Amino acid sequence: MQNWTGIAGKRVIITGATAGIGLAAAEELARRGARLGIVARSEARGAAAVAQIKAAAGPAAEIDVLHADLSSQASIRQLAGEILGRYPGLDVLINNAGAVNGSRRLTSDGLELTRAVNHIAPFLLTTLLLERIRGSAPARIITTSSVAHRGAHIPFDDISAAGGYGGRGFARYGQTKLANILFTTELARRLEGSGVTANCFHPGFVASGFNRNNGGFMALVMILAQPLARTPERGAETLVWLADSTEVSAESGGYFTNRRRVRPAGPALDLESARRLWDLSEEQVGMGSPPMVSGSLG
Ligand SMILES: NC(=O)c1ccc[n+]([C@@H]2O[C@H](COP(=O)([O-])OP(=O)(O)OC[C@H]3O[C@@H](n4cnc5c(N)ncnc54)[C@H](OP(=O)(O)O)[C@@H]3O)[C@@H](O)[C@H]2O)c1
Repeated sequence: MQNWTGIAGKRVIITGATAGIGLAAAEELARRGARLGIVARSEARGAAAVAQIKAAAGPAAEIDVLHADLSSQASIRQLAGEILGRYPGLDVLINNAGAVNGSRRLTSDGLELTRAVNHIAPFLLTTLLLERIRGSAPARIITTSSVAHRGAHIPFDDISAAGGYGGRGFARYGQTKLANILFTTELARRLEGSGVTANCFHPGFVASGFNRNNGGFMALVMILAQPLARTPERGAETLVWLADSTEVSAESGGYFTNRRRVRPAGPALDLESARRLWDLSEEQVGMGSPPMVSGSLG
């Protein structure tokens, strides 16, 4: 028997809700009556997601589309400003958007793209919203990580991956998913006693839009692998559970899969790395000390 918090009427912000796991989670949360703010980088995809969520949850579902390109810090700051202006309370923040990129690219901020979207965006959006989330306690922050963190390390000596970007981008992707866990660890530590929890999870291998942006060969590989994959709905189960279950009301700093807290790989348990990554991330978004230096910090 499931014990749910009763998420009806609660304000939930979710990134990456225009496709895959995020869209499936948004459908289920809307069915439960959550008041959604979905982040979309394209107007058309935002509108299509609203139509799909309403088809699943009913026309009365409350869904706002918030536009942002999460590869751009200016866009994330604008998004945070819009959220703070619109919503007096934030009950759940879900950092779910993410991607793997087959070749190295830099963002308009000069950061390496995979790291910017998968790690810096959750870091910046969360820190910009943190006081409002604290003021809304009990509240939850959830980040979509991956089992792909296994075998990865944070390349503190070459954070922009200037020295190598092999493995069709998967090595880099694994580093960012490790960063999601270390970010969650340090965030949970900073939130101790606040009534706000921070957790992350692996959704399983999910048939979604993931890795369809890296050319025909990779798209074909993903199609061929589909029989091994879960549906987005199944992939979203642990996410919805982390957002709404009373079983995890007191859990924080955890890495979950299949609705169970599990031990991540060794580098994800390194508290010193978690602190170092936080400091570096602050520098990369211009919040920390020392101030951001010129040149590529990617
Ligand atoms: N699929 C898997 O097997 C798997 C396994 C482990 C973890 N994950 C993680 O699950 C999360 C969701 O992935 P998915 O499998 O559902 O993939 P997906 O179907 O490709 O969905 C990715 C979502 O992220 C959004 N997004 C990507 N870049 C963005 C940007 N620059 N600005 C704003 N939004 C952006 C996409 O928006 P658009 O609609 O505009 O493209 C889309 O809504 C990711 O964090 C991924 O790392 C996936």
